[in-house]
Amino acid sequence: MTLTTRPLTECFGVETTGLDLSQIDESGYAELRAAFEEHSALLLRNQTLDDDAHMRLANMFGTIEDRYADERKEGEAYKVPEVTNIREDGSVTGDMDLHTLNLKANMLWHIDSTFLPVPALTNILIARVVTETGGQTELASSRAAWAEMPANLREQIRNKALWHRYSHSRARISPELAALPMFNKWPDQCWPAVIKNPVNGREALYIASHTFRIDGEDQVSSATLIDELTSFITQPRYVYSHKWQPGDVLIWDQRAVLHRATPWNYDEPRKLSSLCVSLGAQDGLDAMRESV
Ligand code: OGA
Ligand code: MN
Repeated sequence: MTLTTRPLTECFGVETTGLDLSQIDESGYAELRAAFEEHSALLLRNQTLDDDAHMRLANMFGTIEDRYADERKEGEAYKVPEVTNIREDGSVTGDMDLHTLNLKANMLWHIDSTFLPVPALTNILIARVVTETGGQTELASSRAAWAEMPANLREQIRNKALWHRYSHSRARISPELAALPMFNKWPDQCWPAVIKNPVNGREALYIASHTFRIDGEDQVSSATLIDELTSFITQPRYVYSHKWQPGDVLIWDQRAVLHRATPWNYDEPRKLSSLCVSLGAQDGLDAMRESV
């Protein structure tokens, strides 16, 4: 099997054809993984992945993240997380429900799980119910942006470390949301501001909506630089905006990409299946731990 790729933007991301993800084997995975390391984001269309096939694919990348392990009752099965405004009874959540506010927090540029003791390597996102209006998922290359960043800005962050907290991103939307137990389960995490891909040595900024402080500096003075860096990364030239169609699968490298959802008309149902895979030692986790 040989993958065919077409660029999604001038600086990162490819659409990949010639691969049925529901039938992927080790050699197919090796090709997919090589493209993932090189291009940071992969789009595959017309796929038919049910939850089991989704988990099988995710497991090839590493250990599936489980944020609810402590909340699940004895014998209760793991469920693939869904990003959706659809309630169990089929209705959609109201504009100001805490659930909808959490979806709005997803519209801040972020990297998944930087607030966890083990952050995410990738998110494999699958379209289940798509919208007519808005609802794109946008990706920004923190690798391309870092490579082109002016020296004066680079020097302010190059050898620094950053602190991450889940409730910080939620507090930017609503204090009530930020106070929920789910957003306060993990202690603050500190990661290097710049991380290196262990396969190709390319560096990227590692900054997210969850980032609340530069190590050694106070929170107020940190905020200005955090905002400036995030704005630099998310300039249109570094962004790919994906309009979902049923059957689309988007896979990205959290070490080199920031992402966000965009608003839609909330009367419209939207559902994506979202599986994060945790970073392993070989993906650079040990190096990230050692350098802070
Ligand atoms: C996620 C996420 C964005 C979206 O699944 O982690 O941020 O477009 N999703 O829903
Ligand atoms: Mn996310």
